[in-house]
Amino acid sequence: MSPYAHITGWGMCVPQRVVTNEDLSKQVDTSDEWIRERTGIRERHIAGAEESTATLATEAALNALRVANLSPDEVDLIVVSTSSPEHIFPATACLVQDRIGATKAGAFDLLAACSGFIYALNMASQAIRSGSVKNVLVIGSDTLSRLTDWEDRNTCVLFGDGAGAFVLQAGEELGGVVSAVMRSDGSGGDSLSVPAGGSRLPASAETVLNRQHYIHMNGREVYRFATRVMVQATKEAVGKADLTLDDIQLVIPHQANQRILEAALRGLDIPPERCISNVERYGNTSTASIPIAACEAIQQGRLQSGDWIVFVGFGAGLTWGAAVVKWTGPFLPHREIYPASYRAWIKLRSSLLRWLRRVEGWIWGRKFPEI
Ligand code: COA
Repeated sequence: MSPYAHITGWGMCVPQRVVTNEDLSKQVDTSDEWIRERTGIRERHIAGAEESTATLATEAALNALRVANLSPDEVDLIVVSTSSPEHIFPATACLVQDRIGATKAGAFDLLAACSGFIYALNMASQAIRSGSVKNVLVIGSDTLSRLTDWEDRNTCVLFGDGAGAFVLQAGEELGGVVSAVMRSDGSGGDSLSVPAGGSRLPASAETVLNRQHYIHMNGREVYRFATRVMVQATKEAVGKADLTLDDIQLVIPHQANQRILEAALRGLDIPPERCISNVERYGNTSTASIPIAACEAIQQGRLQSGDWIVFVGFGAGLTWGAAVVKWTGPFLPHREIYPASYRAWIKLRSSLLRWLRRVEGWIWGRKFPEI
């Protein structure tokens, strides 16, 4: 029988700096009242100069490994879901691999915007269920503040930065990710996009002048799409797991907007007590919002062993999806495997590898080594 993919570790990381609605109202023509009424957002965390998608992802990953009681060299695969990677390449997942010292892991990025964490969770779970890997780190990390036009009041009030991570491990008993649906509709791609900076419109003075490297959004279109697909995807994933909505103890949705969330709950006939909402304090952290909300739900004791939960999200693409998870646990006691000395060793290891590569270059010059 194929193994199940259990969630055995979880962690999150948000930037230090908090930007309130009041702060934004000094920058653009908006108000705390407007933002709270239309979105439910009060404040968000915004990355500082030393923080980035990879630094947040690394911290979230280390926290998740600590909870799972798993050493980085036991990780087989790292999947980073992000729409704001550090570079086009190398993948942000490779930077995380190096920074946590996951010496035996494959690593790649996945881009499905705010639905990315559901996609990554499902892909990682399928890799475990096929028997090809045992331990996977799934990370959702975004710093959309770096793609935000801080002069555009339509978008700059919505987003925040952050990262969340899960450790998935193979296990024989029924549990973990039990069903999932992933959907897309590329005909709606222009509802939410960053037009330039890719191969279609490479960076030029003109694209910068036209502010095409920033997020462009048709808010009303996205709103209508979101309320529709949240209900559809939840019902589909729950049906696929041979359950009904009454069996679900908790819904952990993508945190984009309190109104979207409430509309979805009405469509599903699920009371607010059975749903996690923290959009007020983080804004829309894109692919990180579901794992961050999950971490907070666990901290608040809202997840018990044996509970059935639904993760559901939507985003640019357009993409959407949902996953049904049977929460298992209790898990092994946490362990401190990352004291300062460990971090120092990982840094040293990375520097040594870089140095070795240089020495190899000096030795071989323009010739290729014979193998
Ligand atoms: N402060 C004050 N006024 C603002 C504003 C802001 N931050 N942003 C927009 N407005 C104005 C608009 O310019 C418009 O003015 P007008 O009527 O004079 O043209 C007015 O408010 C109403 O705009 P509208 O777009 O109808 O507001 P809305 O009720 O649809 O709310 C959103 C706007 C963006 C909050 C809402 O459409 C939404 O949440 N959409 C989904 C976005 C999303 O979740 N994106 C991420 C998906 S992962």
